[in-house]
Amino acid sequence: MSILVCGGAGYIGSHTVKELIGKYEVVVLDNLSTGYPFLLDDRVTFINGDLGDEKVLDLVFTEHKINAVFHFAANSLVGESVEKPLMYYLNNVSSTITLLKKMVEYGVGKFIFSSTAATYGIPKTDLITEETATNPINPYGRSKLMVEEILADVAHAHDLQYVILRYFNAAGAHELGDIGESHNPETHLIPIVLQHLLGHRDKISVYGSDYDTIDGTCVRDYIHVTDLATAHVLAYEGLVSGDVSNEVYNLGNGAGYSVKEIIEVCEKVSGKSALIEYADRRAGDPSVLVASSEKINKALGWKPKYHLEEIIESAWKWHSK
Ligand code: UFG
Repeated sequence: MSILVCGGAGYIGSHTVKELIGKYEVVVLDNLSTGYPFLLDDRVTFINGDLGDEKVLDLVFTEHKINAVFHFAANSLVGESVEKPLMYYLNNVSSTITLLKKMVEYGVGKFIFSSTAATYGIPKTDLITEETATNPINPYGRSKLMVEEILADVAHAHDLQYVILRYFNAAGAHELGDIGESHNPETHLIPIVLQHLLGHRDKISVYGSDYDTIDGTCVRDYIHVTDLATAHVLAYEGLVSGDVSNEVYNLGNGAGYSVKEIIEVCEKVSGKSALIEYADRRAGDPSVLVASSEKINKALGWKPKYHLEEIIESAWKWHSK
């Protein structure tokens, strides 16, 4: 039996594949639109194809004995989703419907879905639990919430169980230093700061300094990508054992850091100082997003291993390469 990882050549997908390999057979389906073949472990069976393509899925499900699907393949930039909503609804919603349809057809009944803190929109509370109201404010968040709702309906009607994982700010790189974050263009804070400290960017633009936070800059909950990966494996094993089914879990460290604090830790880790420019707020940025991950801790014993400095150290090692 194999696990199908859609989007396994991407940032979070490739780190999850690394946790699965050796324990499970892994088939990766990725169209390489944002993923990279060099992030893939030699031991996976790689299929270069699109999950919205029924013929590709027929091939995957007939040629491999798949018992679960981990679904990472998606567009995931908030700003881009505002500019290109149809691309987001097509790739994130429509393609997932095709995937679910084929899973039902081939009797594949376990599904782990990558969701996001963006489903909460601008929450009224600082510490977000799974009970916090969802109210996405951009097409990216809406596309993920739509799939969450579709999943509940599919699980009700068919023999399919799922776990939804809502990530907060994924960051860091594998401790072996062989895989890490590579986006083109890069929009995320930590890689941008590190690229600047390595001399690849002139300065860092801080988007907004008048938020109602400790220092006026946005506060986020940064979670190591390997901690996200181990949560997926636990969720899968929980589905297989029957301990959990049809659940949604937040994944974060439960601690918020401001943009300024992140820059300071990056300076400390690299031993270099940054040139900062204060810019306007970025559209769609909530001021504070911090997760309570108590629910997954209680259900599956998941606890993040890496704290902020270790997250940034691992990212620094990767970007310095
Ligand atoms: N920021 C800057 N300057 C930069 C880049 C980012 O000041 O050059 C700020 C942002 O405005 C934000 C914070 O740093 O306040 C973090 O920004 P990121 O782009 O690193 O991450 P986001 O919080 O915007 O996005 C993350 C995920 C998304 C997800 C979102 C949920 O990457 O997929 O959290 O809110 F949708």
